[in-house]
Amino acid sequence: MTVPSEVTVRVPGKVNLALVAGPLRADGYHELVNVFHAVSLTDDVTARAADDVTVTVEGVHADRVPCDGSNLAARAALLLAERTGVEAGVHLHIAKQIPVAGGMAGGSADAAAALLACDALWRTGLSRDELLDLAAELGSDVPFALVGGTAVGTGRGERLTPALARGEYEWVFALSGEGLSTPAVYAELDRLRTGRPVPAPAVPDGLMQALRSGDPEALGAVLTNDLEPAACALAPHLERTLDVGREYGALGAVVSGSGPTVAFLVKDTEQALDISVALTASGVADDVRRARGPVPGARLL
Ligand code: C5P
Repeated sequence: MTVPSEVTVRVPGKVNLALVAGPLRADGYHELVNVFHAVSLTDDVTARAADDVTVTVEGVHADRVPCDGSNLAARAALLLAERTGVEAGVHLHIAKQIPVAGGMAGGSADAAAALLACDALWRTGLSRDELLDLAAELGSDVPFALVGGTAVGTGRGERLTPALARGEYEWVFALSGEGLSTPAVYAELDRLRTGRPVPAPAVPDGLMQALRSGDPEALGAVLTNDLEPAACALAPHLERTLDVGREYGALGAVVSGSGPTVAFLVKDTEQALDISVALTASGVADDVRRARGPVPGARLL
C-alpha cells in the first residue's frame, strides 16, 4: 500500500446547547455538563510529510493563531508521535473558518483534525478509543471535535455520550473582533459565585426532550450557558448582541462556550437573513456567520 504524502481533514466548530458548570475541582477544572452540538463552520487541516513539526494558518484572524509549539494542533502531532514512537515530522496547514478564540472550540477542532490527519499520514493504526484518550489529554473539548453530532460531555467535558437528537437546526453566529480567554472567563465565573454554594451540574430540564422531538422552538427556549454572565461581565457589548437577536425573534440566544461568539437559533432561512442584517446594521457584531447543525466530527476528505 502506498503511503499518502498529504492528508486533509475537515473538522467542525461547536456551540454549547447547555454548559452547566459545577464546582471548581482540585485540578483547576470545573465539573461540567456540556451539551455539545457540531455546526457547519469548519476548519480544514492538511498534514504533509516533513522533517519537523511546523504550522501555517490562513483565514480571518489567522494572525492571532500561534504558529509555534504552543499551537494545539502542533502539540497534537507531537503527542501522537511520542506515544506511537513515530520519528517523522509533519507540516500542518490550517484553513480557518471557525472564529479564533471565539468560544466555538476552533483550537480544539484543529487539534482533533491534526490527530486524525497524522494518524492517517503516519499509519499509526490507533483505535478510535486510543485517539479519543489522546484528544482528552490535549483539552476538554478536543474529543467532541472527533465525534461531532450532538453529545453530552461530563467530567471536565471530555467524557462523551451521544445524545438522541432529531432534526436539523439553523444558526446565526455573531462574531466579536476581540477574543476572550477561556481561563479568564472561568475565573470570572468563580469570582461572581464567591460565597455561594455551587450544586453538581445536571442536564437542564427539557433539553433532551427538545432534542428527541426535533422541535427548534422547544430547544431555543432551553439553551443555557453558565459562563454567559462571566463572558458578559468581561465583554459588556455581548448583552446588546444578545438583545438584537431576541428583538428579531430568535428562538434562542446564548453566548457560545466562553464567548465572545453569540449563537442564535433561528426558525428558518428568512429569519437567519433578517437577524444577520440586523446584527450587522446595528454594529454590535464585527462579523456574522450562518451555519446548520448537527454535522459529523473530524473526517478525512
Ligand atoms: O481543557 P482546556 O485546556 O480546553 O481548558 C482551558 C481552560 O478552561 C482550563 O485551563 C480551565 O481554566 C478552564 N476549564 C475549566 N473547567 C473545564 C474546562 C475548562 O475550568 N471543565
